[in-house]
Amino acid sequence: MATNPKARPEKGVAREDQVQTIFSEIAPRYDLLNHVLSLNIDRRWRRKAVDRLGVEGEGTPVVLDACAGTYDLSLELAGRESFEGRVVASDFARPMLVAGLGKLDGQAVRPLCGDTLELPFSDGTFHGAMVGFGVRNLSDLDRGLREFRRVLRPGARLVILEFTTPPNRVVRAGYHFYFHRILPLVGRVVSGHPWAYTYLPESVKDFPGPEALAERMEAAGFAEARWELVTGGIAAIHVGTVEGG
Ligand SMILES: C[S@@+](CC[C@H](N)C(=O)[O-])C[C@H]1O[C@@H](n2cnc3c(N)ncnc32)[C@H](O)[C@@H]1O
Repeated sequence: MATNPKARPEKGVAREDQVQTIFSEIAPRYDLLNHVLSLNIDRRWRRKAVDRLGVEGEGTPVVLDACAGTYDLSLELAGRESFEGRVVASDFARPMLVAGLGKLDGQAVRPLCGDTLELPFSDGTFHGAMVGFGVRNLSDLDRGLREFRRVLRPGARLVILEFTTPPNRVVRAGYHFYFHRILPLVGRVVSGHPWAYTYLPESVKDFPGPEALAERMEAAGFAEARWELVTGGIAAIHVGTVEGG
């Protein structure tokens, strides 16, 4: 009997394999769905997240964009006139990196297929690191945070842009309705993928809240972790700084 390649994996399939499969399968439609489903608000969030990195006008910094997908965060930084460095954009789902290649257009972004939990870089390589909607997908969040800390130089920042659950009850009710009813439906129709867009709200529900995430960043070795909520707390931007520098 033929098997459906997009069937939801059985329980027990390693989380990283599930995540890699999902993003590899939705890669061709990822950008379209991303901007439609976020009503384009994600562009504003990305701008703000990159503003928090503090690497512009600082010589020729090398910045990591981990879980880079189709490079939207990389390009937000690399496209700025005040940025003269380069971005290493890593992701373990090769089809995501391939789907975004057409957008790179000579920008200083170098794609790399690799696992965020085992970054192929020596200690203290980067002047900054950023992750957009990626850490929620890591099978071991603490290990990922320690990897970021390891590859960053003293004084460098890690910026995390991630969905979170809005603190206000009314906003939260609207958000739940959208995330659990509208988003999986639109995602299924547009992507043709039967369950990938059900995974998204599930993964947000299981992810630590902003305060807990900041504590985990500090436990991973960041001297200071701050956060701000954006758009009523639908998403949060965390900034962790490595001591020294
Ligand atoms: C929601 S997408 C975000 C893509 C992009 N950063 C953005 O802002 O649109 C999450 C990405 O994380 C990647 N990812 C998840 N776990 C990973 C891991 N352990 N190593 C590398 N990439 C990972 C997925 O392949 C996927 O491309």
